[in-house]
Amino acid sequence: MDIKKIDEYALKLLKKAGDNIRKALENEMKIEEKADKDDLVTNIDKETEEFFVESIKKEFPEHKILGEEGIGEKITNLKGIVWILDPIDGTMNFIVQKRNFAISLGIFEDGVGKLGYVYDVMREQIYSAVKGNGALLNGNPIAPVNNSEKLEDTLIIAGYVETIKYYPKIIQLIEKSHGMRFLGSAALEMMEIGSGRAGAFIHKGLNPWDIAGSVVILEELGVKISRINGDEVNILEKGSLIAATANIHDNLINEL
Ligand code: IPD
Ligand code: CA
Ligand code: CA
Repeated sequence: MDIKKIDEYALKLLKKAGDNIRKALENEMKIEEKADKDDLVTNIDKETEEFFVESIKKEFPEHKILGEEGIGEKITNLKGIVWILDPIDGTMNFIVQKRNFAISLGIFEDGVGKLGYVYDVMREQIYSAVKGNGALLNGNPIAPVNNSEKLEDTLIIAGYVETIKYYPKIIQLIEKSHGMRFLGSAALEMMEIGSGRAGAFIHKGLNPWDIAGSVVILEELGVKISRINGDEVNILEKGSLIAATANIHDNLINEL
């Protein structure tokens, strides 16, 4: 894998896609329901994914692409080089707030996360990582997290009401902490942990594209990631997630 070439190309595509998205926000968008009234998709989600798929296929025809909107291909295994893309993570925020959404992209080789990106489009902040080289924010190094941090001294992000309903013990843990935060974009919420602005992110059920970029970045920052029962995360399977600084991670796994 020519990691430098892929990194440069991915960053170029992200910046261009971000420009397109900000421009598209000036016009009315087309909104459709997917599973229900809270699960929406816009023409911009689809156009952004199309842009990535076409551009990646042009430059790297042998690479595979798994995208949320299904414009890539059906992926059943992670053999070879696979780009996993969420063109807009936080579509509801995109529609209602016109901010607090991100492009999430992870690039895997034979199942190993090699490059990760989360682009906060409206703040023009690109979190990125190349495995083994640490993580960056707009090209500047991000400090690793404080793994001895205590639950009492931090904030918890318990993404999505279903998570709290399904794991009601979280409420006591939140009460022990400084409190709860919730942004509505799993990718950006995970960047809150990597940046030291919260100690734990917990979610009941996320898809590969929600987490593919973030897990590569967070691993570089020393954040511990697993399923809520402590199992290792298989990126291709939908499932729960805890991403937390080590001490808090162990605490949560034991209590939930
Ligand atoms: C959603 C967001 C949200 C999370 C949902 C995801 P989408 O992604 O990440 O924060 O709670 O589970 O589906 O649909 O906006 O790409
Ligand atoms: Ca998503
Ligand atoms: Ca999405």
